[in-house]
Amino acid sequence: MFTRLAKICLLVVAGGIATASWAAVPAPPVNQNIGIPDGVFNDLERRNCWYCHASDRLTPDDLTEIGWTFDPPEIKPGIITNRHHGRIGQVIQDPTDAPFGTPGEVYECIACHVMEFNPDLGYFEVGKNFENCLNCHQQIPGQASVHHLTAPAQALNCQHCHGSLVDNPGDGHYIPTNRPPTSVTPRTSIGKGPNGEGACDFCHATGTDVTGRLIPGNDVNHHSTGIGQDGISGLGCNVCHDQMGTDWAIRKCQDCHGIKSIHNIQADSNNDGIITIGGEDPGFGHIGSSPEDCNGCHGGYLAASFMPAPFSGPVTPELAGLSQQSVTAGSTAAITITGTSFINEVLTFMGPMEIKSRARLTAPDGAVTELAPDTVSVSSMDVTLPATLSPGSYYLRVVKGRSESNPMPLVILPYVAIEGVSRTGNSLTVSGSGFGSYMNAVGSGTGITVAGAACTVDSWTDSEIVASCEETSCGGLAVESIFGSAYEEVSCN
Ligand code: HEC
Ligand code: HEC
Ligand code: HEC
Ligand code: HEC
Ligand code: HEC
Ligand code: HEC
Ligand code: HEC
Ligand code: HEC
Repeated sequence: MFTRLAKICLLVVAGGIATASWAAVPAPPVNQNIGIPDGVFNDLERRNCWYCHASDRLTPDDLTEIGWTFDPPEIKPGIITNRHHGRIGQVIQDPTDAPFGTPGEVYECIACHVMEFNPDLGYFEVGKNFENCLNCHQQIPGQASVHHLTAPAQALNCQHCHGSLVDNPGDGHYIPTNRPPTSVTPRTSIGKGPNGEGACDFCHATGTDVTGRLIPGNDVNHHSTGIGQDGISGLGCNVCHDQMGTDWAIRKCQDCHGIKSIHNIQADSNNDGIITIGGEDPGFGHIGSSPEDCNGCHGGYLAASFMPAPFSGPVTPELAGLSQQSVTAGSTAAITITGTSFINEVLTFMGPMEIKSRARLTAPDGAVTELAPDTVSVSSMDVTLPATLSPGSYYLRVVKGRSESNPMPLVILPYVAIEGVSRTGNSLTVSGSGFGSYMNAVGSGTGITVAGAACTVDSWTDSEIVASCEETSCGGLAVESIFGSAYEEVSCN
C-alpha cells in the first residue's frame, strides 16, 4: 500500500511542493501552544515548582529569571497542599518520597512533617521542612528532572503526564516495522527533501520562538529529562536509539511518536476555537494543512493534497483548568473544565463531521469513572461529579475517541462531621468522620476545643477522638481537622 502512495507522490512532486506559505509560519522553531514547553527542567528551584503547581506564588520577576515568558500549563494554586493531605489515611506507596514514612503503613502527619520544640515559647511547632519541595522530591541537577525520576516515568508510562501527545512504548500501537524506510519515511534530523523537509528538526529546531524564548534542540530536550541517561536508573540509550543516524532511526522514536499520536497533534491557527483537520493554516501542527504540514515530515514526496493522514481524527485535546480542584465527598459537585480541542472537525466525503470529548476520572487505585458531559463546547465542558466518590487524590482527563488529554489533579476531601459526643468525667469521646490525623503542634490546623478552650487529645483516628476537657466545659464543641471543621453543642447538664 505504501509503495503505491510513494509512486503517486512522485507525480505530485513535479507540481511543486514546499510552497511559500511557510514564510508566514513561525517554524523553526515551532510555537509552544501544545503540551509541555520544550526545554530543560533539571535545575529547578523551589519557586519553579509553584510556577506550574501553584502559580499564584510567582511574581513576574521570577518568570524573567527562569526565562519562561509564556503561560505554563495551569494547575490551580493551593491544590498542592490538598493533594498531599489527601494521602492521609491511605497506604504509603513503595517507593515513597515521604521522609519519615514506611511503605505499607498508613500516611500520618509525621510521615511528612517534623515537630520542632520552640524553647522560647515552650511548645512544639510544625517544622518548616514542608516548604521546599526538593526536600522530598528528588532531581539530579544538570542530569535528571524531578518528574522523570518518578515511578510512572521510570516504568516508561509517559502518557501518565503527557497524555496522548505521545504513545507509550510497548502498548501495541502500530509501527510499520514490516517495511524498510522509503523516501517518505521521516528522518529524526537532516531531512532529504528538496528544502531539507522530511525530518522532525525541519520544524522542531533550536532557535528563538515567536515569544522571544530560546528553544533547545530535541536532543537536549530529551536527554535533560534523565530518561535513559547513564547512572540514573536501569534505563539506557536504547529507549530512544537503536540505529542512530540511519533512515531507520525514526522507527525507534515511534515507540513514543507512533503514527497514531503524531497524526493527531494540531493547534488552532486562526483562533476560531475549532480545529479543523486539513483546514488550518500550515505550521501550527502536523495535520492542519495537507500537503504543506505533511511535507515537513514526509519530505515532499507524499502525494498528500487534501489527503487525510491515517489514524487522524480525534485531535489530542488539552486541558488547561478546572473550576474547582478540591471537592467534598458525599455530595455531587458541578465542575467546569476548560481547554482546547474538546471538539474537532474532520473533513469527510460527507462533509465536516464533529468528534466530541467526555471526561474521565482516575482514582488513586486506578479505578476509572467515565463522566458524560452535561454540556460541551470546543473549549469548555460541564460535568457533574457523583456523590459516591471516595476521598483521595484523583486525575481528571478529557477523552476524545482514542485520545487522552494531559491530566489535572482533583482531590476529593473527606466530609468532616460529628455524629455523636459522650462524656465520662472529663473525658469526651467524639465519633464521626473525616477527622484525618492529629499533630500535636502549634499551627498544625488540627485540634478540639469546647467553648473555645483547647482539650488535650488522648487518641485521634479518622472516626473517633478521645480528649480530656474541663469536666464542667459545655457549649460549642469544635473539631478542627486537616480537611475542615465540624461543630456540635455539648449540653451543660
Ligand atoms: C513545567 C511545569 C511544571 C513544573 C515547573 C513542575 N511541575 Fe510537577 N508536574 C507538572 C505536571 C503537568 C504534572 C502531571 C500532572 C500532575 O500530577 O499535576 C506534575 C506532576 C508532579 C508530581 C507527581 C508525580 C507522579 O508520580 O504522578 C510531582 C511529585 C511533582 N510534579 C513535583 C514537582 C516538583 C517538586 C517541582 C519543582 C522541582 C515540579 N513538580 C515542577 C508540571 C510541573
Ligand atoms: C504526604 C505528605 C504530607 C502529609 C501526610 C501531611 N502533610 Fe502537611 N503538608 C505537606 C506539604 C508538602 C505541605 C506544603 C504544601 C505547599 O507548599 O503547597 C504541607 C503543608 C502543611 C501545613 C501548612 C499549610 C499552609 O498553607 O502553609 C500544615 C499546617 C500541615 N501541612 C499540617 C499537616 C497535618 C496536621 C497533617 C496530618 C493531619 C499533615 N500536614 C499531613 C505534606 C504532608
Ligand atoms: C515533606 C515531604 C514533601 C514535601 C516538602 C513535598 N512533597 Fe510532594 N509528596 C510527598 C509525598 C510523601 C507524596 C506522596 C507520594 C509518595 O509517597 O512518594 C507526595 C506527592 C506529591 C504529588 C502527587 C500528589 C498526588 O496527587 O497524588 C505532587 C504533585 C507533589 N507531591 C508535588 C509537590 C510540590 C510541588 C511540592 C512543593 C510545593 C512538594 N510536593 C513538597 C512529600 C513531599
Ligand atoms: C510524572 C509526570 C511525567 C511523566 C510520567 C513523564 N513526564 Fe516528561 N515531563 C513532565 C513535566 C512536568 C515536564 C516539564 C518539567 C520537567 O521536565 O521535569 C516534562 C518534560 C518532558 C520533556 C521536555 C519537554 C519537551 O516538551 O520537550 C520531554 C522530552 C519528556 N518530558 C519526555 C518524557 C518521557 C520520554 C517520558 C516517559 C519515559 C516522560 N516524559 C514521562 C512530566 C512527566
Ligand atoms: C511541519 C513542521 C513539523 C514537523 C516536520 C514536525 N513537527 Fe511536531 N509539531 C509541529 C507544530 C507546529 C507543533 C505544535 C507546536 C505547539 O504549538 O506547541 C508540533 C508539535 C509536536 C508535539 C507536541 C508538542 C511538543 O512540543 O511536544 C510533538 C510530540 C511533536 N510535534 C513531535 C514531532 C516529531 C516526533 C516529529 C518528527 C517525526 C515532528 N514533530 C515533526 C510541527 C512539526
Ligand atoms: C528519551 C529519548 C532519548 C534517550 C533515552 C537518549 N536520547 Fe539521544 N537523542 C534523542 C533525541 C530526540 C535526539 C535528536 C535526534 C535527532 O534529531 O536526530 C537525540 C540525539 C542524540 C545524538 C546526536 C545528536 C547530538 O549531537 O547530541 C547522540 C550522539 C545521542 N542522542 C546520544 C545518546 C546517548 C549516548 C544516550 C544514552 C546515554 C541517549 N542519546 C539517550 C533522544 C534520546
Ligand atoms: C520514551 C518515549 C519517547 C521516545 C522514545 C522519544 N520521544 Fe520525543 N518526546 C517524548 C515526550 C514525552 C515529548 C514531550 C511531549 C510534550 O510536550 O508533552 C517528546 C517530544 C518530542 C518532540 C517535540 C519537540 C520537543 O522537543 O518537545 C520531538 C520533535 C521529538 N520528541 C522527537 C523525538 C525523536 C527524533 C526521537 C527518537 C530519536 C524521540 N523523540 C524519541 C517522548 C519520547
Ligand atoms: C510530524 C511528522 C509527520 C507529519 C507532519 C505527517 N506524518 Fe504521516 N507519518 C509520519 C510517520 C513517522 C510515519 C511512519 C513512517 C514510517 O515509519 O515509514 C507516517 C506515515 C504516514 C503514512 C503511511 C501510513 C502507514 O500505514 O504506514 C501516510 C499515508 C501518511 N503518513 C500520511 C500523512 C499525511 C497525509 C500527512 C499530512 C496531513 C502526514 N502524514 C503528516 C509522520 C508524519
